[in-house]
Amino acid sequence: MNFDLTKIVRPKILNLKPYRCARDDFKEGILLDANENPHGPTLKEAESCAGLNRYPDPHQVEFKTKIADLRNTQSSFKSENLDPLTPENICLGVGSDESIDALIRACCVPGKEKILAMPPTYGMYSVCSDINDVGLVKVPLIVEDNSFQMDLPAVLDTLNKDPEIKLVFITSPGNPTAALVDPKSIEALASQWQSGIVVVDEAYIDFAVTGGSAAPLVNKYPNVAVLQTLSKSFGLAGVRLGLTFASKPLAKVLNAMKAPYNISSLASEIALRAMEPESIFIMKNSVQEVIEQRSRLLKDLTSLKHVADTQVGGLDANFIMVRILGPDNKPCNELAKVLYHKLASESKVVTRFRGLEYGCAGCLRITVGTKKENDYLVKEFAKTLDSLAR
Ligand SMILES: Cc1ncc(COP(=O)(O)O)c(C=O)c1O
Repeated sequence: MNFDLTKIVRPKILNLKPYRCARDDFKEGILLDANENPHGPTLKEAESCAGLNRYPDPHQVEFKTKIADLRNTQSSFKSENLDPLTPENICLGVGSDESIDALIRACCVPGKEKILAMPPTYGMYSVCSDINDVGLVKVPLIVEDNSFQMDLPAVLDTLNKDPEIKLVFITSPGNPTAALVDPKSIEALASQWQSGIVVVDEAYIDFAVTGGSAAPLVNKYPNVAVLQTLSKSFGLAGVRLGLTFASKPLAKVLNAMKAPYNISSLASEIALRAMEPESIFIMKNSVQEVIEQRSRLLKDLTSLKHVADTQVGGLDANFIMVRILGPDNKPCNELAKVLYHKLASESKVVTRFRGLEYGCAGCLRITVGTKKENDYLVKEFAKTLDSLAR
């Protein structure tokens, strides 16, 4: 493979000496090294927060070991005998939003270099590229057949013509498309383009039924990075914990770059609890429940008048997209928007209007709720749509 990380990472970042503290060497004793408060947390019931006067562990090796083991067993590429993921393949972030920003900061020179994203897609790639003054090149997903797959020839063509593009963001399963991107096309991109990093954002991977995680690919392709999060399948959005799986040299760069104590002791403790076998069992059950409700929700909503009966995107995430049709049977943003507003303001059910996204005319994105929530949504959706389209 013709990939050279030293040509991809910005020179100052590549040569960064990570912040070191005395506790990298000594963790026990009378700790007078980090200017903490020795009297403990200044809270009324401080006993329940024992230890929070101390800085957290900067490395989280135990959590990384456990999540690496979990992902080693769940890959689309299991049969290929790839080197297993280890803690050295991981960098943790404050949600995968921080991980997205970190990759851009590590690789793209502001005001000069660029990232590539594939609309319709997650909004933070564009926000982070703006924040970092990095250009955003768009190559849309294939929308004509509602598959929302990557247009590999168009992506390769764009990359070959523009050497300033350093990162390609693939959201798989997609948001708002809910479609897993074919893992073989991701591998094809990684093997045919080596002047940057292919970032696969797998925030919704545990809900995918058509394939598993691409994370183990990072040990085959040093130009692949995979983002995951505890915010979705693990039900821990409030904890703010995201992960980047990457080749060991790239993970080392990202770890050197991160703020030393970005993961709080509280987040770290909950994350470790989430890796216990009982918690994994609960996570899998809750994913199963979402998967069952997802099919039911899709069936109920697409059988309504004024909702397209062809599936929009995939069924690989914890949300679905439905397309609202006007009286002429064409996608209708006006109707979809009024429906969205009425559902939120009168029925008190908040969905997401996505009709202005590429290939999503007339679309609402709806998170799969509990059975009770879905029952209510379907009832209100049918009633409101009926009254509006009359
Ligand atoms: C595709 C995608 N990536 C990343 C994120 C961010 O997740 P986190 O909560 O880990 O920051 C989201 C959140 O909705 C998302 O949809």
